[in-house]
Amino acid sequence: MVPELQKATVRIRQPERVRGIIQALREQGVAKLQVISDFDMTLSRFGCNGRRCPTSHNILDTSRVISEDGKKKLKDLLHYYYPIEIDPNRTLEEKRPLMVEWWTKAHELLVQQKIHKSDIAQIVRESEAMLRDGFKEFFDQLHKNNVPLFIFSAGVGDILEEIIRQANVFYSNVNVVSNYMGFNDGGVLTHFKGPLIHTYNKNNTVLQGTGYFQQLSTRTSIILLGDSMGDLTMADGVPNVENILKIGFLNDKVEERRRKYLDSYDIVLESDETLDVVNGILRYILTQT
Ligand code: TMP
Ligand code: MG
Repeated sequence: MVPELQKATVRIRQPERVRGIIQALREQGVAKLQVISDFDMTLSRFGCNGRRCPTSHNILDTSRVISEDGKKKLKDLLHYYYPIEIDPNRTLEEKRPLMVEWWTKAHELLVQQKIHKSDIAQIVRESEAMLRDGFKEFFDQLHKNNVPLFIFSAGVGDILEEIIRQANVFYSNVNVVSNYMGFNDGGVLTHFKGPLIHTYNKNNTVLQGTGYFQQLSTRTSIILLGDSMGDLTMADGVPNVENILKIGFLNDKVEERRRKYLDSYDIVLESDETLDVVNGILRYILTQT
């Protein structure tokens, strides 16, 4: 059905169930399909050239527009809060207030840096931002078939939009909900627009008023892509979900987190820097016989 599912990076707890969902997605047809995806470490790469790839926040944090003191403080926050974010031994309830703390402190530091709107394109160009291998086929397949792609990100919207724009894949079927920067008349960053989106509130509570999923109410087949346990709730606001396939990238602390990921995601991709499996599934679903 999908040869890519034989890749060594693929782990599935219930293969029969997964086969059934993929079959149903194909039978329901392209007109009913929508894709909901996280951005950082899901559409973008986790590792490149033996090093960590930057998140949309990291791109800004390490750029030339941030003072040395600002860089150090942002890095300290990352080193303190990231282990908490991915700790399999803490509950989401424990993590939530700590994530709000991290994002709030990071955004305050960024606002102190007087970042210019006009610097963003250059910051992204000079960064090590990388989309996963196969990104072009992924975006192209969805665009050609008019399948809506909803990018739901706790990163920085302005940065991630610029990454996909520079990759020439910011097509009309792509919609982004994320943390966007607010600028004054002089084009200087003064605040982040609300509601604050962090790793563990990616659900309907931050989508109130967007009407996005309501306007797609006939799109009852969902493919969800994420890399965090917090990404599992991204489709909660979709009315009348009929079939949902959850694909999770397990990038970090693989051994420790495997059990949880296998219990929560239908397909787990371990240390896989590509979109091969996703593209294979899409090819199968979108090719009508
Ligand atoms: P997401 O991939 O779920 O949208 O989450 C965004 C990631 O951004 C999350 O893994 C934490 C990370 N992050 C940073 O790297 N630096 C920061 O300053 C903040 C607030 C988050
Ligand atoms: Mg992510």
